[in-house]
Amino acid sequence: MNINKIRKDFPTLNKSVNNKKIIYFDNAATSLKPIQVINSQKNYYEENCANINRGLHEMSEQATLLFENSRKKIANFFGSKSEETIFTKNTTESINLLMYSLINSNFFKRGDKIVLSEMEHHSNIVPWQQLQKKGVKIEFVKINEEFELDLEDLEKKVKNSKLVSLSGASNTIATIPNLKKIEKIVHEKDRLFCVDVAQLAPHKKINFKKTNIDFIAFSGHKMLAPTGIGCLIGKKNILEEMQPFIFGGDMIKTTNFNKSIFEEIPKKFEAGTPNISGAIGLGTAIDYINKIGFDNIINQEKLLKKICLNKLKTLETKNPNNKINIYCNTKSNSAPIILFDFNKLNCHDLAILLNDEGIAIRSGMHCAEPIVTKYNKNGLARASFSFYNTKEEIDYFIEKMDFILKQIK
Ligand SMILES: Cc1ncc(COP(=O)(O)O)c(C=O)c1O
Repeated sequence: MNINKIRKDFPTLNKSVNNKKIIYFDNAATSLKPIQVINSQKNYYEENCANINRGLHEMSEQATLLFENSRKKIANFFGSKSEETIFTKNTTESINLLMYSLINSNFFKRGDKIVLSEMEHHSNIVPWQQLQKKGVKIEFVKINEEFELDLEDLEKKVKNSKLVSLSGASNTIATIPNLKKIEKIVHEKDRLFCVDVAQLAPHKKINFKKTNIDFIAFSGHKMLAPTGIGCLIGKKNILEEMQPFIFGGDMIKTTNFNKSIFEEIPKKFEAGTPNISGAIGLGTAIDYINKIGFDNIINQEKLLKKICLNKLKTLETKNPNNKINIYCNTKSNSAPIILFDFNKLNCHDLAILLNDEGIAIRSGMHCAEPIVTKYNKNGLARASFSFYNTKEEIDYFIEKMDFILKQIK
C-alpha cells in the first residue's frame, strides 16, 4: 500500500491548524473523506440534482439509478440483500428505527428483558432505555479487567431476554468481541440480536449472511462517506414482519383518506426524501475501501496502534512523575483506538495543548459515559487511527506529548 499516494486523495490532510500541518487522530469520531467521495456528491448536485423514485424525466431516473446502485454496493460489501439494506441517517437513527418499529409491531410486553453491555455507546443505550417506560428491563453484560466482554455473564443474562444489542467494536476500550462465539450464546428463536457495527465496519470485513445476527447498524461518516447517511441491515423475514416507524411519501403502495398500504422492504422503512447525495457518496466510499482492501487497512492500522502503544510507554520513562494509564484493549485484533490519561493532566487540557501543535484527538466521555466514568469521572483522552495515518505522525504526537508533560511539575 502506497500511503503517500493514498494521502493525496484526502484534501483535509493538507490543512494547517495553528500554522502546523494537521495530524488527525480523531478517526473514531468521523473519518476524513477522499476526493472521490467529495466529487461523487458534487457530481450529483451538478449533474443529476433530482428527487428519486418520483419523476420520469432523465435526471430523476439517473438519480434513482445512482441511489439504488449504491444500495447494491453496500449490500455486496456487507453480504446482505439489497432489500435488507435500509438507508438511515446514521447508527443512532438505525437503532431508533429498530426500537420504534419493534414497539409498533408489539414485540415487547411488560416484564421483557433487553441485554446490552457496559461498553455501549449512548446510541445503543438511550433508545432502549425508552422502553423502560413500558416495563421492559435492561441488563448490562460486564466488561472484565482485560477489557473483554464477560461471556459467562452474557450467558447468565441472556436467559429469558427478548433482544440483545451489542457493540461490534467499542469506540472507547477498542474491544472487538468474538461475534462468532457470542452468536452461539445469543441465538434463539424469538430473540433478536442486533450489533452496532459503527466502529467495526471501517476496520473489518463483515459478512451478514454468514451470521446469525438479525440486525446491524452503522454510520457512513465513520467509513469515508459523507455525514447524514447510514444503514440498518436486517434479516429479510424479520423486516417483512415488522411495522414501519416513519410514515409518509414514498413508503406506500396506495393510500386513500382512511388508510394506506405500505410498500415492500426496504422502501417501507424509508419515508420521505432520503439523503440522496449521501447515499451515492457512501457507495463511492465503499468502492474506495474495496480498492485499498481490508488486508492493507488492517495491517496499517494494527501497526500504528502497536507503535503508538510502545512509544507511550517510553513517555512514562522520560516523565516518571506523570504516570500514563491505558484503558483499552491492546490485543492485536482490537480497534485502532487508544484510550488513556496522565495522572497529572486533565484530558481536555491535553486535547487543547495538542491542538496548539496541530494534533486532533478527542477528550471527555466519548458518548459512552457509563464505561468512561468507570475509569475516570473527569473523562479520558482518545487517539484513533486510520489507514491514512503514518508512523511519522505518531512520532510527532509522542514528541509533543513529551514536551507538554515536561511543563507539568
Ligand atoms: C460504537 C458507536 N456506536 C454508535 C455511534 C453513533 O454514531 P452516529 O453518531 O453516527 O449515529 C458511534 C459514534 O461514535 C459509535 O462509536
